[in-house]
Amino acid sequence: MTMSKDRINYLDHAATTPVRGEVLEKMLPYFTEKFGNPSSLYSIAGEARYGVDEARELTAAVLSSRTGEIVFTSGGSESNNLAIKGTTALIAPVGGHIVTTAIEHHAVIHPVEQLEKLGYAATYIGVDAHGKVDPDEFAAAIKQETFLASVMLVNNEVGTIQDVALIANKTREASKRVGGSVLIHTDAVQAAGKLSLNVDELNVDLMSLSGHKIYGPKGVGVLYVRRGVELEPLIAGGGQERQRRSGTENVAGIVGFGEALTLAESERQGSRERMSYLSDLLLSGIDERIPNASFNGNISSRVPEIINFSFPGVEGEPVLLGLDFKGIAASSGSACSSASLEPSHVLLAMGVNPKLAVGSLRISLGRETTETDVDDVLQALKSVLDQLATFPSAQG
Ligand SMILES: Cc1ncc(COP(=O)(O)O)c(C=O)c1O
Repeated sequence: MTMSKDRINYLDHAATTPVRGEVLEKMLPYFTEKFGNPSSLYSIAGEARYGVDEARELTAAVLSSRTGEIVFTSGGSESNNLAIKGTTALIAPVGGHIVTTAIEHHAVIHPVEQLEKLGYAATYIGVDAHGKVDPDEFAAAIKQETFLASVMLVNNEVGTIQDVALIANKTREASKRVGGSVLIHTDAVQAAGKLSLNVDELNVDLMSLSGHKIYGPKGVGVLYVRRGVELEPLIAGGGQERQRRSGTENVAGIVGFGEALTLAESERQGSRERMSYLSDLLLSGIDERIPNASFNGNISSRVPEIINFSFPGVEGEPVLLGLDFKGIAASSGSACSSASLEPSHVLLAMGVNPKLAVGSLRISLGRETTETDVDDVLQALKSVLDQLATFPSAQG
């Protein structure tokens, strides 16, 4: 297929990010000369073991946690599954109760639904029109048999930030009041490099992270597990990761994760201003050029990188295809559901009309995004929408 542009404006960083040069450089020796199995005893294995140990220390430093609390996994989805199913299997009798939200990533919602089929109970707390969970409403759902509460830090579709620390405090108090005991999990996959990941300040017991959202490799992630929290492994075998996740370690991936997270954290404050500037530019540009666009999100509690709009009378797919033809990569809702025309569960939970929800567009900025990218997307979007308004039959 011929593109009308030779440069790609990549504006889908919430879906994935390219591996940074510094990260790749640090990973490369672990594919070749430092290829040993970290569990073996000879010196070449020691190098691999050292790589994994160092990445664990770097990760723990960013989270202000202990190294023994870091479990390397295959990514955000596995971390969420391990947090939810691993705790359930060990601490909760069938009939136990989980509280989560209606806007979680499917890697939280689907494991919880699997547990419901096994006889566990779940409550999905709704959100307001801006994607925000009410901490009091969340805590009010806690019962004596509630053993797990899971709430995401940053939503991947609309960028809304939840008050995780406040929700955690209120949830713990509510649990204490009814004589229960609750673990708190947060999916912080979209928060890394954008917000503090200090696990004590967030007051969480479990936290999920993913490498490929922070300019690290795909197929590697972390589950933070607070000391004393017991987990049944999802993958049993050789007992790696202190019996919590068996399998020979993805050494290069883990090394890449440690480096990517460290870089993301060290640049976090500095990038915030630039991202906010670009985000505001995009928001005001859309306001000016496409006045009937409706913003989905929370202006006062959002990460600037994620911007979501709906356009009345259009579906997301033709907009995405039109943008793609102009060399712009964006997304409708979350990447995994973009192949279907189902309206996003997040937008529906926010009360967006289903007809508007199918016309949603997510633009997500990243470290290599420039003002030119923002100008390009504004121009392209206006032209695609004008075209679709002129030729409505172009919509499938
Ligand atoms: C909020 C959130 N949680 C979990 C995941 C899954 O992470 P991974 O792709 O590493 O499995 C994603 C990725 O889209 C996400 O955005």
